[in-house]
Amino acid sequence: YKDEYILAIETSCDETAAAVIKNGKEIVSNIVASQIDSHKRFGGVVPEIASRHHVEQITAVLEEAMMEAKLTFKDLSAIAVTEGPGLVGALLIGVNAAKALAFAHGIPLVGVHHIAGHIYANQLFAEMKFPLLSLVVSGGHTELVYMKEHGSFEVIGETLDDAAGEAYDKVARTLSLPYPGGPHIDRLAHEGEANLDLPRAWLEEGSYHFSFSGLKSAVINTLHNAKQKGQVIEARDLAASFQASVVEVLTEKTFRAAKEYKVEQVLLAGGVAANKGLRSALTERFKEIPEVELIIPPLSLCTDNAAMIGAAGHVLFNKGVRGRMDMNGNPGLEL
Ligand code: KG4
Ligand code: ZN
Repeated sequence: YKDEYILAIETSCDETAAAVIKNGKEIVSNIVASQIDSHKRFGGVVPEIASRHHVEQITAVLEEAMMEAKLTFKDLSAIAVTEGPGLVGALLIGVNAAKALAFAHGIPLVGVHHIAGHIYANQLFAEMKFPLLSLVVSGGHTELVYMKEHGSFEVIGETLDDAAGEAYDKVARTLSLPYPGGPHIDRLAHEGEANLDLPRAWLEEGSYHFSFSGLKSAVINTLHNAKQKGQVIEARDLAASFQASVVEVLTEKTFRAAKEYKVEQVLLAGGVAANKGLRSALTERFKEIPEVELIIPPLSLCTDNAAMIGAAGHVLFNKGVRGRMDMNGNPGLEL
């Protein structure tokens, strides 16, 4: 029996990341170089700056991941890389690094969908049980994904406009909070009171889709109207009211879908999974159906990292999936 080591690479947005995963479950090394400080002053990720940083960082990040794992390339069974979706210029850096290493050392290449990665972050500390439902909430995605087995993904609901994290970041910007705004709103929300009446987008009866742009506009209008009337609205109360709306919709739709699809497990995934309000609301709600196991990742595995790409890459690799040397960064890759 030979241990399987996968080197994984993630460069889809603003983190340059590499990790080594043993037998699909064990994190041997996990390096994340964040570019947040470079994007902060622009209030969001600037694609051109992201690509440049990835180019500058990728070699050192890869070397560190291999060094920390105390491995050489001949120990690797595969190289997994985020193929999409994401910023095309950013994806290309990771994909090209992966292709170069795979070609030079004769190692199989595996392309991974970024969202599959977020979901499989859960496999690094828990055992996935099927059928399952995953709520994926990040800066670019808000999706309810049904999985009947490993590697099978059915999107049963998604956002019709803004992603949950995007709404957090835009509302944070309105309140002059730094990028990324999610953690700041989360912190403020716990200091404030949800005393403002903001909308909840339930959409049609039984729909598992989401919409956050109306809520975002309502926040901006509420601030604007108050200013015109000379009223003062506390940022913390606005944050609390906004968070209450987002969390209620995410929690209720996930709860209903879990019951309708009779799943064994519900997995939380993506950067917004770090949200304290969401974590506690889901925990509370799912106490009503203890037969469904709720899995919530540790904070370090919620935001972008390469360990999750290695976990998903392991499953695809063992299903026989292989990337070709003409692999490209694919910003619109389907799950
Ligand atoms: O998964 P991720 O690192 O990158 C994408 O794939 O998009 O998610 C980043 C998003 C950002 O929008 C950030 O504001 C949000 O996750 N986020 C949070 C929290 N921590 C990060 N949103 C709400 N509450 C948090 N505690
Ligand atoms: Zn992500």
